[in-house]
Amino acid sequence: MIRYILFPAFLAVISTPVFAQPVDLAKTMRDAQSQMDLLLLNTIRYRNTDNTPYGPRTIENGKLKLIPKRDWTSGFFPGEAWYLYEYSRNRKKRNIAVNLTGGLETEKYNAGTHDMGFKIYCSFGNGYRLTGDTGFRTVILQSARTLSKRFNAKAGVIRSWDHNRDKWDYPVIIDNMLNLELLFAATKISGDSSFYRIAVTHARTTMMHHFRPDNSCYHVVDYDTLTGDVRKKTTHQGYSNESAWSRGQAWAVYGYTMCYRFTKDTAFLAQAERSAAYMLDHKNMPADGVPYWDYDAPGIPDEERDASAAAVLASALYELASYSKTRDYPARADMILRSLTNHYRYKKGEGLGFILQHSTGSKPAKSEVDVPLIYADYYYLEALLRSKSLTKYTSTSWK
Ligand code: GLY
Repeated sequence: MIRYILFPAFLAVISTPVFAQPVDLAKTMRDAQSQMDLLLLNTIRYRNTDNTPYGPRTIENGKLKLIPKRDWTSGFFPGEAWYLYEYSRNRKKRNIAVNLTGGLETEKYNAGTHDMGFKIYCSFGNGYRLTGDTGFRTVILQSARTLSKRFNAKAGVIRSWDHNRDKWDYPVIIDNMLNLELLFAATKISGDSSFYRIAVTHARTTMMHHFRPDNSCYHVVDYDTLTGDVRKKTTHQGYSNESAWSRGQAWAVYGYTMCYRFTKDTAFLAQAERSAAYMLDHKNMPADGVPYWDYDAPGIPDEERDASAAAVLASALYELASYSKTRDYPARADMILRSLTNHYRYKKGEGLGFILQHSTGSKPAKSEVDVPLIYADYYYLEALLRSKSLTKYTSTSWK
């Protein structure tokens, strides 16, 4: 576990520009590519054709943990391959990304999850953005049709989970905001506005019910689909129902920034700014900008960090900075990126090929605590490219 002495966040902000060394992008991307090569080798080595695992998620008991393609994290491995191709424009890297992406195609019919955006957008979405290949487009559209089946018009939201039916009737998690990117993109490339309408309705309903007066957000909101009312507000991966689970806060910043990209609705931009302010200005935000796994975790500063929340936040802040000049978003994103690069990466050749250490999946479940996570690496690479404007937000770059 990484520990830093807490000191007021504003000191970190005013001190960083003076002493800050920019991240050496060329070297960092070279390191990332060599880690990816290792992860690919290890994935092939660990694959067991009996239960058809698809890709890597984390390290468990010293071993690479592979997951099946239905897992919510399956799109991040091909997504990383696309970002590395985007940087290198190397033909072989492109072939790797194409192959990893193709392995996920059957997920386009999987209506049992809301995670379609995470899975299909990060893989096929990036593939289409970078190649314009119409095969990718077809998968994106089918996936959007499948995801739309989970929308309930009375409640005005897409159902997140089907599991734990004893706990919730119609659970919606803040993470679900990220899946809207697939729907927006589907409208953009097909002209079918039904996807857009679902996405906007979901984002507006979530804005009404997920946020507290202090601008933090709940993790899970449970709806009554007969009346459309909220039944209860709880958590699944956070410390308590009333706490601020860090990755959830980062999903909110990213999700509402992305919604503004597609809609230009200033209410979404304002929500993104409020969520960013909650994270950046919180007294428990460490000086290095990498949050503890929950802002209200009881043992702070002896609590684990969540590098994945930091990577999602950094990437979101770069995009937010392109729409909003209200504050120091680029400096804060740069600072987080420097911290991750200088203090949270594995040494080359270590970590079975993962890039970042010190993420937390679900501490309440004692699962994936202080480990590498494939999605931390994905958003870290995205943030690196965004830091130098090397990747384009899709609403302007879809063909
Ligand atoms: N979307 C699941 C998570 O953030 O852990």
